[in-house]
Amino acid sequence: MRNRLGASGEFDVLPTVGSKEMVALLPTLLEAKRILIPKVAYPTYLVSAIFGRAEVIEVDLDPGNWPKDVDLVWINNPSNPTGRVHTQAELNAVIKWSRTHKVVIASDECYLPFPDSDESESILKRAAGENVGFLALHSLSKRSNLAGYRAAFVAGDTQLVKRLLEIRKHLGMMMPLPVQRAMTVALQDESHVERQADIYRNRRRILVPALISLGFRVEYSQAGLYIWCTRNQSDWETVAWFANRGILVTPGSFYGSAGSEFVRIALTATDSQIAEVAQRISA
Ligand SMILES: Cc1ncc(COP(=O)(O)O)c(C=O)c1O
Repeated sequence: MRNRLGASGEFDVLPTVGSKEMVALLPTLLEAKRILIPKVAYPTYLVSAIFGRAEVIEVDLDPGNWPKDVDLVWINNPSNPTGRVHTQAELNAVIKWSRTHKVVIASDECYLPFPDSDESESILKRAAGENVGFLALHSLSKRSNLAGYRAAFVAGDTQLVKRLLEIRKHLGMMMPLPVQRAMTVALQDESHVERQADIYRNRRRILVPALISLGFRVEYSQAGLYIWCTRNQSDWETVAWFANRGILVTPGSFYGSAGSEFVRIALTATDSQIAEVAQRISA
């Protein structure tokens, strides 16, 4: 956290069974009853609130529009599905809002290792050593392609991490020691992450121009594993258009009704498949 992500001051780190475990359990573990989630978001933020019997309010990025009487806010930087990166000013505003209203911010940063046109920062860097109220979630599923290991961690506010540790161990959420060891090895190496980031960047460079030349508008898509695009028609019509060419994309409405005219294209197929996709849609 200190070397790669610029965290400073006092913070603690807790390994988690994938970042999904922490996303899914956090509202329950913190007994959060009103939760803010992004309007277009990874579906588990909503599921975890339902699981924790909490009320969910969908919000945009600007804390100026957020209700204050809430217990937990999720931000996802860079975002799945949009690939949107929070600017420094946007992160600063979130931090200021959290300190003013004393609300915990959980920043899901599992796509942070894959910047493209814009580089994002961890909330723990912008917090500049004052980490109270902040948790950052990281995952080796994306960073090191270790999804099957279920290897992730949460870092931040020492009191919050202590509380999570106390409760999680009674739920049996310990990470097996061999996985912790593998994680330590993977986290010591940055070269494989840079190689992987290059791979996604190249795939994006092949697909984005092909999509634009066909009349798609690509929004955000500044980082992470996805292209978020629209032809101003229903997501399912666009899904069908791709499916007719043998290409599987995800309808944007999976991520909230605000995504209903978008599709998410994953850059996780092989290089040759991505090249083939560019050819098929241009043909
Ligand atoms: C935004 C986001 N957070 C968390 C996860 C969970 O990943 P994992 O449990 O493999 O760390 C995903 C997986 O796709 C994701 O997109």
